[in-house]
Amino acid sequence: MNFTLSNKPLATAKADCLVVAVPEKGDWPESTRQADEALGGFLGELIKSGDVTGKNASTLSVPLTKQSWPRLLVVGTGADSDRSAANFRKALTAAVGQLKEGPSKQVHLALTDTPITGGDDETSEAARLSLIGRTLEDQLYRFSGFKSEKAPALKLTKVTVSATGTGKALKDAFDLGLATGRGMNLTKDLGNTPPNVCHPSWLAEQAEQLAKDHEVIKTEILDEKQMKKLGMHSLLSVSAGSAQPARLIVMEYRGGKAKDKPHVLVGKGITFDTGGISLKPGEGMDEMKYDMGGAAGVFGAMQTIAETKPAINVVAVIAAAENMPSGTATRPGDIVTSMSGQTIEILNTDAEGRLVLCDALTYAKRFDPATVVDLATLTGAVIVALGSHATGLFSNDEALAAQLTAAGERACDRVWRLPLWDDYQSQLDSNFADMQNIGGRPAGSVTAACFLSRFTKDYRWAHLDIAGTAWNSGKAKGSTGRPVPLLVDYLLSHVGK
Ligand code: BES
Ligand code: MN
Ligand code: ZN
Repeated sequence: MNFTLSNKPLATAKADCLVVAVPEKGDWPESTRQADEALGGFLGELIKSGDVTGKNASTLSVPLTKQSWPRLLVVGTGADSDRSAANFRKALTAAVGQLKEGPSKQVHLALTDTPITGGDDETSEAARLSLIGRTLEDQLYRFSGFKSEKAPALKLTKVTVSATGTGKALKDAFDLGLATGRGMNLTKDLGNTPPNVCHPSWLAEQAEQLAKDHEVIKTEILDEKQMKKLGMHSLLSVSAGSAQPARLIVMEYRGGKAKDKPHVLVGKGITFDTGGISLKPGEGMDEMKYDMGGAAGVFGAMQTIAETKPAINVVAVIAAAENMPSGTATRPGDIVTSMSGQTIEILNTDAEGRLVLCDALTYAKRFDPATVVDLATLTGAVIVALGSHATGLFSNDEALAAQLTAAGERACDRVWRLPLWDDYQSQLDSNFADMQNIGGRPAGSVTAACFLSRFTKDYRWAHLDIAGTAWNSGKAKGSTGRPVPLLVDYLLSHVGK
């Protein structure tokens, strides 16, 4: 797919399809006015006839005659007062969804001059171009490598996006959006790959591939023997029942000064979560292939960083393991010693994410981090609390929590903070060890975060519970690519600071 920016007047644009915005209320953007003029008032007629209402994310595709563009796609962009970045993204998504169906090959997208006005999120042209670039890559994604018949190629081959100029600032913004979308697509590819292929050593190979493709990424893979030597008995207790050995995957990007402390991302990489001896019920268990969604999100963010090369330092640590029941599996009641020295009574082998993360979080200390953010499909309870709209956020640092919240708003990839109060810690008291790995039914996401907080006291830390946001279920089953946009925005907010 070819994506370019253009500041040429619409009347002379050469494309098989022109895409313009019609708001429900408010003034037409300049490009819509230009298109209507070139069409002799045709857009106005479509509104009069009721074929176009401007309702946000509605679309109408009309073939034209005698125009330099033989097709017009009209996208409703809602009322000016309602046009938050999130609503504008919905309109973009609808437009790209239409384009994906064909029939046009070369498309001119004239949506950039639609202002984002709803709420506080007024954005610059650069921010809109970034959102457009991201949505193009994100929505044109397909995952078909496991079908015996090759999917026919998309008709669409070229998208030209309107801009007021094609200078470096606007081009960089658009390219950042495209790179973010490609990062999301890597995350989706990893998540959607079946668990008989995507196991811990396969994930490690993907890291080596990323390092091969991008000189700026260095990788180091620790095997079970090395992890044992480090005392990662909590992490290893999760892979104990699996024929697939665990891996600790480390990737480093050093784009900043040598003395700049790195931002560390830690990903939960359970390539399949059966629950172990505390076996999960069968229904929908296939979706536990997405239990490496945290790891996949880290990969996506690292790829975007590698492509855009900002002046910051980023380290990724992925705890990859498969949680299986077997004769060698960990039992409920087993006690293990974590790398931190704290002992853990494992009362439920299905609360395995925290067991792999705690050792990865202890390992993260060696990088002397500026901040540590972990991402994990950690609890079903966060889906009960927040559904699939917001990622759960927990943090031991007010400023870090505020930064992540703001990044999520800007990136249309929102988080909502939940408490980490000491009041909840006693739910983890164990009669036999320093702590147990479950805190009972009340506030399951909070007690999971409380468990992690016992391993993150030495640095500024945030935990993102992405169990509700990393993938879609049902007919649209598939990885979402979240929270790559959030992470990229967050990491880039440190450039030059
Ligand atoms: N990977 C799951 C969390 C999960 C469940 C994510 C369903 C998305 C959908 C995690 O390992 C898990 O099993 N958590 C348990 C914890 C419980 C045993 C304390 C849960 O949420 O039920
Ligand atoms: Mn589990
Ligand atoms: Zn899990």
